Amino acid sequence: MPMHLPTAEDAVAARETVEWALARLADRRSILPPTTTHEPLPKLTDRGIGAEAAMRLLRDVVFPTAVPPDHPRFLAFIPGAPTVVAALADMALSAAMVFGGSRVEAGTAIDAEDAALRWLADAAGFPASAQGTFVSGGSIANLSALVAARGERYAAPRRQVIVAGASAHSSMAAAARIMGCDLCVAPPADDHGRLTSATLAVALGDRDPEDVVAVVATAGATNNGAVDDLAGVAEVCAERGIWLHVDGAYGGAALLSPRTRRLFDGIEHADSFIVNPHKWLYAPFDCAAVLYRDGGRARRALTQEADYLDAISDDVVGNPSDLAVHLTRRVRGVPLWASVLAYGTAAYTEAVEHCLDIAAYAAARILASADLELALEPALTVMIVRRLGWKSEDYEAWCQDALRSGLAMVVPTKHLGETMLRLCFINPLTTRDDVDLVVAALS
Ligand SMILES: Cc1ncc(COP(=O)(O)O)c(C=O)c1O
Repeated sequence: MPMHLPTAEDAVAARETVEWALARLADRRSILPPTTTHEPLPKLTDRGIGAEAAMRLLRDVVFPTAVPPDHPRFLAFIPGAPTVVAALADMALSAAMVFGGSRVEAGTAIDAEDAALRWLADAAGFPASAQGTFVSGGSIANLSALVAARGERYAAPRRQVIVAGASAHSSMAAAARIMGCDLCVAPPADDHGRLTSATLAVALGDRDPEDVVAVVATAGATNNGAVDDLAGVAEVCAERGIWLHVDGAYGGAALLSPRTRRLFDGIEHADSFIVNPHKWLYAPFDCAAVLYRDGGRARRALTQEADYLDAISDDVVGNPSDLAVHLTRRVRGVPLWASVLAYGTAAYTEAVEHCLDIAAYAAARILASADLELALEPALTVMIVRRLGWKSEDYEAWCQDALRSGLAMVVPTKHLGETMLRLCFINPLTTRDDVDLVVAALS
């Protein structure tokens, strides 16, 4: 079949694609705003348009319509910023076609993922016996951890709850719905909505621990960057025998910096922990790590069983497919591993610290501005900014103009019902000049 064997035309398309990829990675400043006119895409036809034309269309017409989260002034949501090696390894991964579900087929590719997981587990102080895998995102990672936490209690006679802090990510509510549980949100301990031992005790009341699937603490809240009181929460969970899950999808990267590490004290007691390398650890989409203190417990809850899977089952070490809500998977942790292998762990700490510095610089510029206020003390690298005199429609209009003009990608958020701007810094290519441009445009 010609479509499965590379032709001379494919070779040209491949060269052009690699050159395009390198050029794009080399110049991430010139890719905002996206193409504003969305051209109609060609129809899918009997004969096709050929490899070169299809790849050219992808590069020149489809991809430029997307808003690139790795632009240095993409400050909305939680951006991403893959390293060059991580992006290249990810490109290679598709051609290598590794089945990442089982060790039988994946060769040492899963060992590479395990090495990256070990690096993350060490940062969190998890024991040598900890196990994990990489899934497509924080939402699936959180769901997997909560399913593991519930274990065999899925058939419990009473409705169960997941208890979380007020700043927990929306994926907790989604997981609760999927699992047929209720989400119980603890009262906020402060303006950041932190979960502490005291607010957790209020939320738990005299509930039977059997009815509590897990307590979820957030280490880096999406909206405001706050890290819950992990040590206090861990103590309450240990006293009551409740599974502690820590969602570090965004903030977990700050475990790497000695400057922020103490905020995470107590994480070493968690039963499960997630961090998304596709956010602040510089892997391309889609890559989230889920780690379990006791992999065996997770495997018992998550392993799929069937006659046709006997050949790949591994009760001793365990397969990645047994550690999350998935079966077939790409070895999506390999690009992270290849990148850490290439640049070294110190480069990651440096990159994270650069972002902490840039966020501190941005906060100082905002504080110095007569027109701007910080709604909250910034936490990690997220801040919520009030522009004095603006209403919600002013924020929206400013954000739309900022994107249209190529200044920045920023979106409004709400804090205590008030619309404001939210800035998130995770890109090591973001400079003080970038911050100055944005702050000047807001003044
Ligand atoms: C704290 C937190 N948890 C979970 C998620 C969900 O991750 P994903 O979008 O990869 O599903 C996010 C995403 O921003 C997050 O910030």
